[in-house]
Amino acid sequence: MKFETLCLHSDNNIKDEWGTLTTAICQSATFVHKGVDINNPYSYSRLSNPTRRHLETLVAKLEGGYDAYAFSSGMTAITVSMMLFKKGDHVIASDDLYGGALRLFNNVNKENGIEFDFVDTSNLDNVKKLVKENTKLIYIETPSNPTMQVTDIEEIAKIAHDNKALLFVDNTFLTPYFQNPIKLGADIVLHSGTKYLGGHNDTLAGFVVTSNKELADKILYYSKTIGGQLAPFDSFLIERGIKTLPLRMNKINDNAIKLVEALKSFDKIKKIYYVGDKDSKGYEIIKKQSKGFGGMISIEVESKELAKKILKDVKIFQYAESLGGVESLITYPMLQTHADVPEVERNKRGINDKFLRISVGIEDVYDLILDLKQAIYD
Ligand SMILES: Cc1ncc(COP(=O)(O)O)c(C=O)c1O
Repeated sequence: MKFETLCLHSDNNIKDEWGTLTTAICQSATFVHKGVDINNPYSYSRLSNPTRRHLETLVAKLEGGYDAYAFSSGMTAITVSMMLFKKGDHVIASDDLYGGALRLFNNVNKENGIEFDFVDTSNLDNVKKLVKENTKLIYIETPSNPTMQVTDIEEIAKIAHDNKALLFVDNTFLTPYFQNPIKLGADIVLHSGTKYLGGHNDTLAGFVVTSNKELADKILYYSKTIGGQLAPFDSFLIERGIKTLPLRMNKINDNAIKLVEALKSFDKIKKIYYVGDKDSKGYEIIKKQSKGFGGMISIEVESKELAKKILKDVKIFQYAESLGGVESLITYPMLQTHADVPEVERNKRGINDKFLRISVGIEDVYDLILDLKQAIYD
């Protein structure tokens, strides 16, 4: 089955007893046992729930993984997967990551004794130099949030596996429609399902997709022990979003390419970060490992005053944190997603007071171009 069909018909053979076309929302915390010696498929919703399980199975298939587990947010998914590591383990992570992941690593995992080195993972030599005997994990986002660094997944997987370490890839920005890190060697794929998978800015969700049974069993064990699973109604919403994922991603990709072309002629935009730009550093790698470029663009404008004016004057773009939904959003990473990253570190990576991040939606692209134009020049 092709990806687009899978999004709608992954399991036509396992309809429930009512024959519902959409997955039924099974709003039950517990399940009545049929007998003492009879194995029930479900017993308690922290362990598993039919609506959630349906979604998890679908996401595992879309990513080409062994199994998947759905959580109440992307951060829960990342937190649970970091339970695989203990005091004394060493992690090499991209220095450009979603601010919440950096906060977890620096302020929680590090405090609990896990060692971290942060580096530009798009430069593989950097990574090789940092590998130590106790290196257990390489953690990347590609493209990274928010400066769109591209890391070669196949090559970095080799570095990890040569050293018996795992590779985790946060695939939120490109989604399984464009990029399948497990097929390229990743051991675990993470998602903020809040973004493109759900696609409508109406619920939080997160996924851990594993490449093998051993990791799946461990994640399930931590998940049932800790909690934080995705609720049945939210599972339904994410599954409904996935039905149109290919359509949305195609439109978003198209819009982003056209928007970047237009923004290049705006003299007050000094720098554009977009992986679909032929002149961008990671272009050849992204072409090799992804079927599309996605809809995330960052820009550096001429001044701090202009950055603030844009946020104030946009009419179609909404000044709001998050990404990946049908509505185009614009974010000020310095004050929002990356507010907890120390200023010196932020500035080193160009995330300064002139830096804005755009999540392109499915509106008419000419409306989007005109909206930014009036916000910058009028
Ligand atoms: C790349 C990436 N990963 C993970 C997360 C965390 O996801 P959530 O907000 O669903 O907890 C985000 C949130 O913005 C993100 O951008």
